[in-house]
Amino acid sequence: MNAGSILILPGDGIGPEVMAEVRRIISWYGDKRGLEFEVSEDLVGGAAYDVHGVPLADETMEKAQGVDAVLLGAVGGPKYDDLDFSVKPERGLLRLRKEMDLYANLRPAQCFDALADFSSLKREVVAGLDIMIVRELTSGVYFGEPRGIFEENGERVGINTQRYTESEIARVARSAFELARKRGNKVCSMEKANVMESGILWREVVQKVHDEEYPDVELSHMYADAGGMQLTRWPKQFDVIVTDNLFGDLLSDVAAMLTGSLGMLPSASLGAPMANGRPKALYEPVHGSAPDITGQGKANPIACILSFAMALRYSFDQGEEADRLEKAVEKVLADGVRTPDLLNEEGKTPASTRDMGDAILAALDASL
Ligand code: IPM
Ligand code: MG
Repeated sequence: MNAGSILILPGDGIGPEVMAEVRRIISWYGDKRGLEFEVSEDLVGGAAYDVHGVPLADETMEKAQGVDAVLLGAVGGPKYDDLDFSVKPERGLLRLRKEMDLYANLRPAQCFDALADFSSLKREVVAGLDIMIVRELTSGVYFGEPRGIFEENGERVGINTQRYTESEIARVARSAFELARKRGNKVCSMEKANVMESGILWREVVQKVHDEEYPDVELSHMYADAGGMQLTRWPKQFDVIVTDNLFGDLLSDVAAMLTGSLGMLPSASLGAPMANGRPKALYEPVHGSAPDITGQGKANPIACILSFAMALRYSFDQGEEADRLEKAVEKVLADGVRTPDLLNEEGKTPASTRDMGDAILAALDASL
């Protein structure tokens, strides 16, 4: 059966390496589960800049708008550090998020039991951890105007603007409450209402959406700095965390480390439903392009593979197949397969990116 369309944007650095493993898994679903995805591929980030002089060509943007799901690897690298801000690789990713209006960024942080000792925190703090950060992704200080570097009184001043409308806050709050109902039924909203007006509005609107539409969900509020502290002190107190674009960027990196490795975390960025009922969607690992290990077969493909699992769940309505893939990942970790980022013992030979892909494919076969 035609399961839907996917646009793959491998991007830069380790992006193409980890995406190669995802492609094999997509093919596995076609061969073994009858889910035939229509897959196309294009350029983003520095790879697009090298060819088109921009980090995302208009044709690619158009393609992204027309598929059921976009899968992105990573963007950026030292080669592009000196480029003008407007054509930096990251701008390609930000354009996709903004023009597809992917306002709800879901970043799960789950600690696989096999990796609990690998976290920098104690086992009892992280074992069994399963939280979900919902980060607002299309507004806030990332996009607010005015922005820029200006001259003022004979010196330069750098300006960015934190800006949120009520409707922008309300829609991401709804995403968080909806998710919470399918999980632990608890939402903690994080802002800095003690110092920011946008935080005061954030808190009010989240509370109002809760009281009027989701009174059954438990809601609490926390200042984002305290939230960061609580995330490292006792993360299991949380179920769903909803927060703005910048705090979400920071807090999701903090949450990532609880799980043992940044190489483990997937994400889904979702927008409004399209004509076919599926949400506009982009899936990407939380990690970056990792130029220091590019091309050496050291990258951990799990974050990207788990991002595809999220696509199965949220775009293609294949929750059971998503579970199958997540269980396969859990199994290879339990079996001790480790890319270098998951290995701190000396003397053990790490698995390569490809080995990890092989092991997950074998676990998928074994699941049939
Ligand atoms: C992320 C990244 C991006 C962000 C960068 C690459 C633009 O850090 O997705 O968390 O800041 O949003
Ligand atoms: Mg980030």
